[in-house]
Amino acid sequence: MESFKTLIENNRAWASEMLAQDPEFFKRTESGQAPHFLMIGCSDSRVPLERMTGALPGDMFVHRNIGNQVWSMDVNILSVLHYAINVLDVPHVIVCGHDNCGALKAAMGPASNGVVDHWLSDIRNTLRWHKDELEAVADPKAKLAKLAELNVMQQLGILSRTPVIRDAWERGKRPMLHGWVYDISSGLIRVVAEQIDSEQKAAAVLPNN
Ligand code: CO
Repeated sequence: MESFKTLIENNRAWASEMLAQDPEFFKRTESGQAPHFLMIGCSDSRVPLERMTGALPGDMFVHRNIGNQVWSMDVNILSVLHYAINVLDVPHVIVCGHDNCGALKAAMGPASNGVVDHWLSDIRNTLRWHKDELEAVADPKAKLAKLAELNVMQQLGILSRTPVIRDAWERGKRPMLHGWVYDISSGLIRVVAEQIDSEQKAAAVLPNN
């Protein structure tokens, strides 16, 4: 798809299809949102978070950045997280990485990506911490898949230590943290961590707890 006009044409067709299926759909979504999922995904255009899960408008609160990262000093993601947990009360937070991720590839190579190299520094830490484990994987595709999983676990670890999540867990059992990796070559998701809903569970399963 190359023409921006096609996007608008597709939008018109989509809106009328939605109305044909459910004449009240947009009227209902207009009244407010109560999503069940906060998705933290990579900006990669090949990872269609909503389409690949069958999510409809209103199902998913979404944050995306290069490498699906959770930085504890990033006011952008912290605001998203605060709003999702404390206002929308979402029961599930999912960090979704993917195979063949350009951010992970770049982090494995020389620092020649301009400002993006700053953003990749935490992924480079993950690479250092798991050097032996990753060097044991000879196949480059499998190595990237392994790093995608390690990166998701690393980001879940950071997520689990944010005050927003810690305070929520102290108040009750919400939210549950999950980690996925989406395989671009098959369209399938593999689950790398699921149902982490307490400090104890996080300490048992996630890194650096
Ligand atoms: Co990516």
